[in-house]
Amino acid sequence: MTSSPGAPQDVFYARTNIVPLPLIVRAEGVRMWDDAGTEYLDVSSGPVVSNIGHGNARVADAMAAQAKTMDFAYSRVARHQPNIDLTARISAMAGPGYERVALASGGSEAMEIALKFLRQYVVATGQPQRHRIITLSPSYHGGTIATLAITGDASLDPFLEGFAVKSERIPAPFQYRVPTGHTPQSYRMACAEALEAKILELGSETVLAFVVEPVGGLATGAVVLEEDYANRIREICTQHQVYLVYDEILCGTGRTGCFLASHAWPDARADLVVLAKGLGSGYTPLGAVLMPKAMVDDLSNRTGFNFSHTYNANPITCATGLAVLDEYERGDLVNAAAMRGRALRARLDDLAEKHPSIGDIRGKGLLMAVELVADRVSKTSFPAEFPPTEHIRICGLKHGLIIYSRRTANGANGDWFIVAPPLTITEDECDELVERLDATLTGFEALAAPYMTVSDPL
Ligand SMILES: Cc1ncc(COP(=O)(O)O)c(C=O)c1O
Repeated sequence: MTSSPGAPQDVFYARTNIVPLPLIVRAEGVRMWDDAGTEYLDVSSGPVVSNIGHGNARVADAMAAQAKTMDFAYSRVARHQPNIDLTARISAMAGPGYERVALASGGSEAMEIALKFLRQYVVATGQPQRHRIITLSPSYHGGTIATLAITGDASLDPFLEGFAVKSERIPAPFQYRVPTGHTPQSYRMACAEALEAKILELGSETVLAFVVEPVGGLATGAVVLEEDYANRIREICTQHQVYLVYDEILCGTGRTGCFLASHAWPDARADLVVLAKGLGSGYTPLGAVLMPKAMVDDLSNRTGFNFSHTYNANPITCATGLAVLDEYERGDLVNAAAMRGRALRARLDDLAEKHPSIGDIRGKGLLMAVELVADRVSKTSFPAEFPPTEHIRICGLKHGLIIYSRRTANGANGDWFIVAPPLTITEDECDELVERLDATLTGFEALAAPYMTVSDPL
């Protein structure tokens, strides 16, 4: 690895985590190739981004065509058709309640736009005392200072102290490990009640929003909220006039088998939904905030929403987003996510029969996480000196897999890796993925053996 001027992004990563990363030179469908010609399957779509797969020539052509016709027009001084078309298309796919779509250059920026919109709305409507935000612990909502401040990760506390205003936290409804005396169902409902308790503790008149991921990403390892929990938090937010914001940056845009993950819960719609990742599918940085017409029009009649970024709704990004959504339609990718997700889940369950390091498999559609444990009877995690997320990633590379895994909250909640291949994955490619994962887990368990206490005879 070079450390010369102009060295790659990973020179910024902690030295202890640096292992040789492949130099990827080509990608097509679910496959990637490095400079030595080694082929890999993209198990996690990068960080759950490449929903339509790599190397799509139709999308590339649409990008080039837009760049050649009209590269840039700024939204404060001009309108353009790709912006009009993309927002109409997203709004139609999202359905009633989301008639307005503000575009952004990625997830964190979109989340900031959602928060700024709500804050500006309450200030403009005479409720300036509403400023507190409630989130889950753990959770992840972005990498800018404000979105890190609402991210539920206690290891960020020293960084945030005196620097940014942190959100108020309530427990995430983990289902794999639940406190003594609880069933998974009773625990998640207790977690939902914690929202009301927190609102009352803070004073409901001070609370602006509850921000939550319908299906988690790296922070919880694809914990699914479940319908009874979602219905209850919707009820609580309505009762106390707190805005409910779904962070669907990772789980939205078809990943879970519905265009919005929250479409699975018709009675638990959010006030705002934030999308990114799969919306641009890696071809362009794109995020979106879905909002109701009534709120947007009301604010427009008062002060207008006053914040924008230079690259919001730029023509090349909008044309790319449209071409990506064409691919969703062409491949019926939302339904493919549901169908392929069920089949892949069954194959992963078979792997769990064979590999004692698999403690839990969870998720929805083609967004799943595999939790790695040292002992699956006691559900004990691996000790600090053996970070399983790094070892599984490195074993994966040896067996032709690029796996996204990262220890979050210093491993306090467990360790998992994400199984979320492009939604275009075929049945044969699923078989190949599972075969390579089998070999990867065998290699991982050989390394992990000294740390594993296998009390389960399998
Ligand atoms: C749930 C969630 N929210 C927000 C973000 C931030 O998005 P971005 O990295 O595009 O800024 C991410 C990124 O991983 C995410 O998974």
